[in-house]
Amino acid sequence: MPAATDGTVAVSSLSHTYGAESGEGTLALQDIDFSVAKGRFVSIVGPSGCGKSSLLMMLAGLRHPTSGEILCGGAPVKKPDPERIGVVFQEASLFPWLSARKNVEFPLSLRGVPQKVRTEKALHALELVGLKDFAERLPHELSGGMKQRVSIARGLVQDPQILMMDEPFAALDEQTRFSMGDELLRIWDETHKTILFVTHSLSEALYLSDEVLVMSARPGRIIDRIEVDLPRPRTFEVMSSPRFVELRERIWQQIRH
Ligand SMILES: Nc1ncnc2c1ncn2[C@@H]1O[C@H](COP(=O)(O)OP(=O)(O)OP(=O)(O)O)[C@@H](O)[C@H]1O
Ligand SMILES: [Mg+2]
Repeated sequence: MPAATDGTVAVSSLSHTYGAESGEGTLALQDIDFSVAKGRFVSIVGPSGCGKSSLLMMLAGLRHPTSGEILCGGAPVKKPDPERIGVVFQEASLFPWLSARKNVEFPLSLRGVPQKVRTEKALHALELVGLKDFAERLPHELSGGMKQRVSIARGLVQDPQILMMDEPFAALDEQTRFSMGDELLRIWDETHKTILFVTHSLSEALYLSDEVLVMSARPGRIIDRIEVDLPRPRTFEVMSSPRFVELRERIWQQIRH
């Protein structure tokens, strides 16, 4: 398999200063180092403004770090590459005038993929998120959770080995949020993708992940790396287990200030 599709992520000595060119810059990220093995589910948590979204934008090639190196699948990330890295943001940000299927097809149409192939791939991605029967619906005909699933399907449509998600369920109510988490774990199980998941919710991070990276307040640094040794498959009950509570407390102590 070519290196660029193997699903590993490696970040070394990454720092970022916003507005560096104007002299008075804001140091947002400092000396970030971590690596993620293929197929792992890794969450990133930290106080608001610590640079989680900035980090994800850089990992996805949407922004350039001031310094440091990012390798995804062994190759440097210099620009967005949706065949290698799929991205899902907090707001579903769908085109309101396009059906669910057309929204999912959109990145393929940018690449000039023929209509027949586009439709096949979009329907497959929608099936993966359980929305095949809603393919022709417009976004306003879908619930918030369904819209977010369309957005996940769009991130998956080019079958990237790595999926990066920035608070994808933050706009949803708690119940929908946890069922979306279960849905995501099922997709992860079926597709063996590497997932990097930014969230504010410590419980969500622990419930979903193999590993949680904890960031400090700005300038964001990685201050802890927690191996989540809770058995899978995880169910709602795991959240009241002593180990879960202990890990949650450990993270909370580090980010509460
Ligand atoms: N385009 C930008 N220009 C200048 N400063 C920025 C820009 N984007 C983010 N910042 C600053 O960088 C820091 C990190 O922001 P970022 O959005 O990455 O944090 P975050 O951890 O995702 O926050 P939240 O949890 O609230 O989403 C903040 O201080 C923010 O003000
Ligand atoms: Mg953010």
